[in-house]
Amino acid sequence: MAATQRYSNFSIALHWLIAVLIVIAFILGNIMVDMRISPSKLQYFSYHKWLGVTVLGFVAIRLISRLLSKAPPYPTNMGKTQLLAANGTHILLYVLMFAVPLSGYFYTLAAGYPVVYLGLFELPVLIAPNPELKGTLKELHEILNKVMLVLVLLHVAAALKHHFYDKDGLLNRMRPGR
Ligand code: HEM
Repeated sequence: MAATQRYSNFSIALHWLIAVLIVIAFILGNIMVDMRISPSKLQYFSYHKWLGVTVLGFVAIRLISRLLSKAPPYPTNMGKTQLLAANGTHILLYVLMFAVPLSGYFYTLAAGYPVVYLGLFELPVLIAPNPELKGTLKELHEILNKVMLVLVLLHVAAALKHHFYDKDGLLNRMRPGR
């Protein structure tokens, strides 16, 4: 049986907005770390941090709305293992969507830099500068990003399989404008 119900327009908008922001933050993160020190590099670091903090805010809103409203039912052709894999991936993606920006945030603080959101106001300094922790958090930020990349690719591959192979309408649940 094909999936006929969709997420709310609000959830769909947030899902795609977060996805686009994460992709931009990810690409920018990889570009900026390979740049030589220059005013542009520092500017990119700021943009990257603002994007990441924005993602964190939107993910918090998305999680609350996801917990308050029921997700539309999956297509009935999905077996137990498939449902378990889908739900497991979604939970892990939520964990990573918090852990990735938080690790970047705490890394920045441990390195002794404040995070000034949009250049307008300083966000809470939750930890003191800590040279030892700094290295660990930098590595954590990189590793979590790699894990998230793998999970996002799995997530996209599964969505495409449902759409083109199973043809069970699963993608329509999250498709904008229909
Ligand atoms: C969706 C959120 C985020 C994504 C996808 C993301 C992704 C990345 C990626 C891919 C890199 C390059 C890692 C490498 O290979 O070296 C990076 C580096 C970095 N990120 Fe993020 N990041 C996010 C959020 C944040 C936030 C919120 C902050 C701080 C407020 C932050 C601070 C940094 C810093 C300072 C670096 C440079 C690390 C270095 O010194 O080499 N990130 N990020």
